[in-house]
Amino acid sequence: MRIRLIGAGNIGSSLAREAEDLGLAIEVADRVDKRAAALAEEVDGRVVAAEDPIDDVDLAVEAANQDVVAGPMLAALEAGTDALVMTTGAFADPNLLDAAREAMETTGARCHVPSGGICGLDGVKALALEPGADVTLTTRKPPSSLGPVPDDAEGEVFQGTAKQAVQEFPKNVNVAASLVLAGLVPEVRIVADPSLDRNTHEVHVSSPNVEIRTEVASKPSPDNAATSHIAVLSAQARLRRIVEPLEVGT
Ligand SMILES: NC(=O)c1ccc[n+]([C@@H]2O[C@H](COP(=O)([O-])OP(=O)(O)OC[C@H]3O[C@@H](n4cnc5c(N)ncnc54)[C@H](O)[C@@H]3O)[C@@H](O)[C@H]2O)c1
Repeated sequence: MRIRLIGAGNIGSSLAREAEDLGLAIEVADRVDKRAAALAEEVDGRVVAAEDPIDDVDLAVEAANQDVVAGPMLAALEAGTDALVMTTGAFADPNLLDAAREAMETTGARCHVPSGGICGLDGVKALALEPGADVTLTTRKPPSSLGPVPDDAEGEVFQGTAKQAVQEFPKNVNVAASLVLAGLVPEVRIVADPSLDRNTHEVHVSSPNVEIRTEVASKPSPDNAATSHIAVLSAQARLRRIVEPLEVGT
């Protein structure tokens, strides 16, 4: 199996090492040439350009940003190549989501979306199957992990829809977009808390028959404070799930 990894940063580097461990052939692209070159050398891979045609690649992986989802990932699906997408916030754009769905219907390609920074998407998908479920997402991070807020920010910095959250905090609430993809549209709160040393995501789903609460408190990644460590592990676990025949969980 051959994978093309676009984004040789924090998540991309861990995925490349996982892919090497799984014995996959690896292509690496990054807009920073030396980053791609260093990672390709480390995992015995090959440097390519993100826009190179997808020929004999089995899986295209995005660990970069929303533009790469709208560009090379959509192109991969249109070419019939499976994709793994980390920047799920890109799918808050309904035109892009429609185009991706249409490409998958036409070509039979599949798109994998890891759970990323949250747990409980299995339950969310199940509760989305009957009417009446409400979901809220409360994200708490130290202000230094939150990007567009001052370093001394404290308290609630956002309350609104998933779509607004993805636009205003694109590096922090891919998880809101992932909940939408799983079938339930969350109300989102983002809280800056300077006393935290972990990024926390609390998902609360309330339906007439079932209630689910999950809370993940993850150290930020050493290489990118906006990305929770569990999101890196989640991407690795998904790659492993694609490669291995035994599939566990909803
Ligand atoms: N789904 C989730 O729950 C979840 C959780 C954490 C992070 N993420 C998202 O995953 C993505 C990767 O996160 P990360 O921590 O690895 O980020 P990172 O900043 O460490 O790495 C991103 C890499 O992508 C490269 N890049 C950016 N634009 C590119 C382009 N057009 N072509 C090629 N390379 C490009 C950058 O140079 C960088 O090396 C981010 O968008 C982040 O928001 C999603």
